[in-house]
Amino acid sequence: MFVIFCRIFQFIFNFVVKFLPWRKAALVEGAGCIGKIPELLHKHKLKMPMLVTDEGLVKAGIAQRIIDVLAKAHFPYLVFTGVEPNPSVNTVNKIQELYIEQKCDCFIALGGGSAMDAAKGAAACVVRPKKSVEQLSGLLKVLKKLPPFIAVPTTAGTGSETTIAALITDTETHHKHAIMDICLIPRYAILDPELTMGLPPSITAITGIDALTHAIEAYLCWTYGTRESIRFALDAVKIIFANLEKVYNDGNNIEARQAMQIASYKAGFAFTRAGVGNIHAIAHALGGLYKTPHGLAVAVVLPKVLEDYGKKVHKKLAILAETAGLVAKTEKKTNAEKARMFIDTIYSMNERMGIPKGLDCIKDDDIPKMIEWAGKESNPLYPVPVIYNKERFGKMIKKIRIGN
Ligand SMILES: [Fe+2]
Repeated sequence: MFVIFCRIFQFIFNFVVKFLPWRKAALVEGAGCIGKIPELLHKHKLKMPMLVTDEGLVKAGIAQRIIDVLAKAHFPYLVFTGVEPNPSVNTVNKIQELYIEQKCDCFIALGGGSAMDAAKGAAACVVRPKKSVEQLSGLLKVLKKLPPFIAVPTTAGTGSETTIAALITDTETHHKHAIMDICLIPRYAILDPELTMGLPPSITAITGIDALTHAIEAYLCWTYGTRESIRFALDAVKIIFANLEKVYNDGNNIEARQAMQIASYKAGFAFTRAGVGNIHAIAHALGGLYKTPHGLAVAVVLPKVLEDYGKKVHKKLAILAETAGLVAKTEKKTNAEKARMFIDTIYSMNERMGIPKGLDCIKDDDIPKMIEWAGKESNPLYPVPVIYNKERFGKMIKKIRIGN
């Protein structure tokens, strides 16, 4: 009965989302393209950007590169460097206060998912000052144009530069609030591969697998997708299989870095339209409870859930195996065999990049909470190939803990 309810919800919701005013973040790409930021600010008559970033990027000198670009063009600016991993409601409120106090008129979010999430959350609060983060969380609760938003990713994975989502953690309950609204799609995505050159291999690996998971979950959705989102998901899978291990092994390979940024953007677009699924729902619970880095959580969960989906996804995973170049279309193998190759390749790629098979941080007492959070996030909204009930979420979480 519950499965029927979820499927009817998704079927109806599919009609609703088709009429939403979708748009894409305008793409600015190429080595050194952060130099175009002043031009964009002038174009929109903006005078006082707020740069939102984190201490790590300040120490790495990457924030300074944006500051130099702004200073050279004689722009005043405000810098906030206090974004933490899994940004909190407090951080979002601080950014909002400073933005208003200093009369800023646009955001430049520099970083991985966290900086972008925090800045998006703050931008939503700026236009809805009477609402709390909790009140804005959920689907289409903001419904108001945000200040101009320039997203400058320094990793290739979250896709946050093109998505409708901002994930903000309540530090008291550890729950992750997901604000999801079309107005959260950034105005510009600046993909400068030079900013990702210094990323350590471990971060390159987990953020890359995050992008791969976005593409796979978007592709596996049974509805919501469009021709474009399907094409983008397939493109992203192809690019990631061809480039992720290249950048993991040689961080200075700028062509591969750029390719991964494009893949992340495409995967981000695909899941913005088609949704993610149970893999992300479980990963978000892990992030909220144990601060597990998002990319690490999805990397561990991804192959296990794909395996667990079984027959329902064999045909689509077979297509993904062909797209990834793991097997020729003409090769005489069954869909089940091709799907197995795809899953096994993810396991072995994870292993080569030092990603563990399980996460032993999961505590028995926390499992009911994880089941509740993951279930609430996934159902009935996500158009997953297999609807998980509480029991199945529980079994999967235990498998993730054990690691096999
Ligand atoms: Fe993700």
